[in-house]
Amino acid sequence: MTDKPILTTTGGAPVPSNDTSKTAGPRGPVLLEDYQLIEKLAHQNRERIPERVVHAKGWGAQGIFKVTHDISKYSCAKIFSKVGNSCDVLSRWSTVAGESGAADTERDVRGFSLKFYTEDGNWDMVGNNTPIFFVRDAYKFPDFIRTQKRHPKTNLRSPEAMFDFWAAQPESVHQVTILMSDRGIPTNPMHMNGYGSHTFSMWNADGERFWVKFHFKTQQGHKHYTNAEAEALIGKTRESYQEDLFNAIDRGDFPKWTMFIQVMPEAEAGQQSYNPFDLTKVWPHEDYPLIEVGEVEMNKNPENYFQMIENAAYSPSNVVPGIGYSPDKMLQARVWSYADAHRYRLGTHYEALPANAPHAANVQHYHKDGPMRFFTNDFGNADAYYEPNQYGGPVADPSVMEPPLKIDADAFRYPQEVTDEDFVQARELYLNVLEEDEKERMYENYAAAMGPCSKDVKERWYAVLERVHPDYAAGVRAANDRLDTDVNAVPITDDTQIEAAE
Ligand code: HEM
Repeated sequence: MTDKPILTTTGGAPVPSNDTSKTAGPRGPVLLEDYQLIEKLAHQNRERIPERVVHAKGWGAQGIFKVTHDISKYSCAKIFSKVGNSCDVLSRWSTVAGESGAADTERDVRGFSLKFYTEDGNWDMVGNNTPIFFVRDAYKFPDFIRTQKRHPKTNLRSPEAMFDFWAAQPESVHQVTILMSDRGIPTNPMHMNGYGSHTFSMWNADGERFWVKFHFKTQQGHKHYTNAEAEALIGKTRESYQEDLFNAIDRGDFPKWTMFIQVMPEAEAGQQSYNPFDLTKVWPHEDYPLIEVGEVEMNKNPENYFQMIENAAYSPSNVVPGIGYSPDKMLQARVWSYADAHRYRLGTHYEALPANAPHAANVQHYHKDGPMRFFTNDFGNADAYYEPNQYGGPVADPSVMEPPLKIDADAFRYPQEVTDEDFVQARELYLNVLEEDEKERMYENYAAAMGPCSKDVKERWYAVLERVHPDYAAGVRAANDRLDTDVNAVPITDDTQIEAAE
């Protein structure tokens, strides 16, 4: 007998040995009846699940959201009904391109996901640390991501592909400017903002709709690494974000963000020079000021990372009454895409996993069996397994119906022409937001990123930058010219040159 807890099989029976196989003699062979050995090896073979196709490397925490300001005139969501309301939150921050073992401080956009477990059900904010994105049509997303991932032949990341794609999508220049600026490498998730990026909508108890953008401003202040600092850090640890975040929360230094919204009355959309549903554009703050809503505080490290963070399934389709979508076509594609990804990555009933199961809301749906059916969901009456039924099973509630979305246009593939308007906000950022020293660093960051690109691709990108501002193009060109690119200034797909470089 031992006074330690007893190891059991997955069936709950005590295990007599966990280190010695059952054999036909002292030298073996192993008996097939040593089922627990087979079970142990089989479990090891199944410990991994597919990593996320994008945003595979991530860090997360649990916490709370508190409403500090009244926005009930914009939204009838219960969470916003009263100052002082609160709900649990699960966060996951991520890099976009790197695999799950990638170094934390790579230059990349950061994902910024928050799951609000409200009494109306889960509301997911699946945003980034930038208020805009590279493209504005979902057709372009898989190709864009392909250029960020590995080349099919070399299995290397390909700067040539990245800049080739961006040069062909000049609307990306706004986001690429942010990526190459200081904000391209936050020191850790605690020192960056989060943005819903898309235009969403809210509606109030009177059925009035407003277009809305979400902002989460870090209370820790922005902090970023230069390329050199990040490189030195990666030489010491590739996991600095996980270390910083876990240790801060462990010692009680809880990171906080202030939540704001920008609000545009429904009828105002269309009165701007830019399309307010275009994901490559911000809404100027002087036109649509930030309205404070509340505070997010992350104050608990999950007991088990895999259970809560790897299993977390965020989706823009998770909205609650009072919060809705907009005509932004990228957003609409995302509404369909994520649940499909979760069913593949996690399984049919992924919403029932502890990370995803609503906290306060009562889940009552008629989706029935399949993998991971470990919830009863029979509403206390086994006969109510279809709908409509005469047994008092749950029914839809028309009172939470969203107000009609006003659309009066022909269905058509409207051409995505790039116009001068696509360079206005990038120019504003370049001229009026970036300080001179940051511009200099940005030119150098470009040179580091573009070094291996062919001359042709570089020229095509300079032509895009010219449309933002000639000084921008000249700065990047000069930084590139300063680099000795003799060996690398060829397409990464050219075999002879790769061999020559080896
Ligand atoms: C049409 C465009 C897009 C498509 C089809 C798409 C699709 C996906 C997919 C399939 C995943 C993996 C989900 C998983 O396996 O858990 C993902 C993750 C993610 N995406 Fe997107 N995405 C798009 C654009 C965007 C944009 C514009 C943003 C930010 C504004 C964004 C933010 C994120 C974040 C933060 C994650 C990681 C979520 C997590 O932490 O688990 N995506 N995306």
